[in-house]
Amino acid sequence: MTLPKRPVLKARPAVAPSPEKITLETLRQMRSRAEPIAMLTCYDYSLARVLAGTGIHILLVGDSAAMTVLGENSTIHATMDFMLTITHAVRLGAPQSFVLADMPFASYATPDAAVANAARLLTHGQADAVKLECDAGHAPVIAAMHAAGIPTCAHLGLLPQRAAQTGGYKAQGRSAADADKIVNDAVTLWRAGADMLLLEAVPDALSSRVVAATDCPVLGCGAGQSCHGHVVVLHDLLGFTDKPPRFVEKMADVPAVIFQAVERYVNAVKNRQYPMPRHGYTMKEGQ
Ligand code: KIV
Repeated sequence: MTLPKRPVLKARPAVAPSPEKITLETLRQMRSRAEPIAMLTCYDYSLARVLAGTGIHILLVGDSAAMTVLGENSTIHATMDFMLTITHAVRLGAPQSFVLADMPFASYATPDAAVANAARLLTHGQADAVKLECDAGHAPVIAAMHAAGIPTCAHLGLLPQRAAQTGGYKAQGRSAADADKIVNDAVTLWRAGADMLLLEAVPDALSSRVVAATDCPVLGCGAGQSCHGHVVVLHDLLGFTDKPPRFVEKMADVPAVIFQAVERYVNAVKNRQYPMPRHGYTMKEGQ
């Protein structure tokens, strides 16, 4: 009896890949045409293949992986080596997508460290750009990265890497003074050379001011409708998170699907319905 060959998993997208590589220029043009940019977090090869086939524009290899994948209680536990490994895996699964990699906690404390670490994410990780949590004080860091040819996204508003310092995960920029500071920070970082801005958990009234005052794609994560693009954490969208942020729309209950499939498998093993003879190998002819 000859058994069918087991299919080999190849490094290619599961569904129709984007016909052209999405670049920073693509995103700039989308901004000019007022065409919304869709972005999600992604941390591994298999899901990158699925996401890439949907037409998503940006895959964010977020340091939120420390919490969603590793189960830590803070994003600060995503190390440089870990981010390099998962960024490279996402690139293999999504060759045409724009891959934006998070710079880990304290990996951009000085301009020299920022350039060296970001360069590893672009070369070894094969990211298209890096994201770092910023305020106006990071202008020299952004300027050094710009001078070194490293595309950057400055993340403002709620900064998860600083949650311990700032007192938790709270919406930002809700008073006039706080909003003025974040708008000023955004403009300063854009002038220093940031190629994109990301605003997290801020009012739309603030985002619209940043959009009006700058000339680059502005991405929002719970930052209202004015932003050029939007990102949420994939695990929140798919129902893995117990208490997702209020700005996330849960679009599927994937844990329930996995649970049902695994429960069927466990029952099949217990009841000796798996494996069946068709799942096994036979001895070679005459042996
Ligand atoms: O790490 C992450 O997932 C992020 C998003 C919350 C924007 O930075």
